Amino acid sequence: MIFASDNWAGASQPVIDAMIRHNTGSAPAYGTDPLTERVTQRFRDIFEHDVSVLFTATGTGANALAMAGCARPAGLVMTSGTAHIHCDEWGATEFYTHGMKLVPVATTKGRISAGDLAREIGKYPEGSRFGVPVALSLTQASECGTVYTPAEVAALTGAAKTRGMVCHMDGARFANALVHLGCTPAEMTWKAGIDILSFGATKNGCWCAEAMVVFNPDRVRDLVTLRARAGHLFSKSRFVAAQFDGYFEGGHWLDLAGHANAMARRLSEGLAAAGHKLAYPVQANEVFPLLDLATIARLRAAGAAFYEWPEAGSSEDRVAVRLVTSFATPEADVDRFVEIAGG
Ligand SMILES: Cc1ncc(COP(=O)(O)O)c(C=O)c1O
Repeated sequence: MIFASDNWAGASQPVIDAMIRHNTGSAPAYGTDPLTERVTQRFRDIFEHDVSVLFTATGTGANALAMAGCARPAGLVMTSGTAHIHCDEWGATEFYTHGMKLVPVATTKGRISAGDLAREIGKYPEGSRFGVPVALSLTQASECGTVYTPAEVAALTGAAKTRGMVCHMDGARFANALVHLGCTPAEMTWKAGIDILSFGATKNGCWCAEAMVVFNPDRVRDLVTLRARAGHLFSKSRFVAAQFDGYFEGGHWLDLAGHANAMARRLSEGLAAAGHKLAYPVQANEVFPLLDLATIARLRAAGAAFYEWPEAGSSEDRVAVRLVTSFATPEADVDRFVEIAGG
């Protein structure tokens, strides 16, 4: 019963098969191989846009380098109070941008609203000494497992663009959000005003495959150089490409996310039926029930792995826990967890 994180899962078999399939002979290094070119074309087809694609080793690397590509002196990056770039990336954005400041905007259930963003931007008038709003970073799906609709993304990017801000999406769980919305990748990104995306695949069935996807090259600079200097340019890039090849083949990535989301839904419905309240609506692959301490102890004794998440809510005898499902979550584990949580 592994619900600690989706990155505890292994890699899916088609992804591993693709790595083995492409492990023949030699290929030019540093992203100049034909497979990387083919996979880049695949990204263009998927996004219906002439994107450039830069693989990185980690989501943190993609996020921080995307921000480095638009950094300006005294720059501000506006994001949610729960954003991974703000809370969990060891100051990577601040480091790679030479000190751009992260500004948390009022956040409800992992998301920010266009109105709150506009109010926050208004605190930094042109020419003020407080800093220059440079970028907006939205996490899709959010760290609370909630999802912005394309219309919400468009409203947010619209507010950001009134001040010329670059609009970034942290898509560590891009596929989970996409499957929930049932829209196209284009609708969720550039059609809604996103300039650059951190496209995550590691959590959804790859071993190590993340990428910066650039929709609007006029808004970011020097990404090729920045990535290489940061040590994120793979010499054997073809193996990252191979993972994406297996990931996209026949819509595999959407099937993987579909399973993870379905397991989260099943888990949430079971827990709700057992009388446990949920801190957030379940829209992607994360569930945040408020559990009493005896239930937590029972689940842990049965071998369940999960994190307590008090920031999602707590009272004297209950605390929120975070349960993350993945492409590999067995239905039987969900049912067993629910049964034990039911008392
Ligand atoms: C929302 C979000 N963004 C980015 C990341 C960063 O991924 P990585 O661990 O590959 O740096 C994570 C990882 O947990 C995440 O949850």
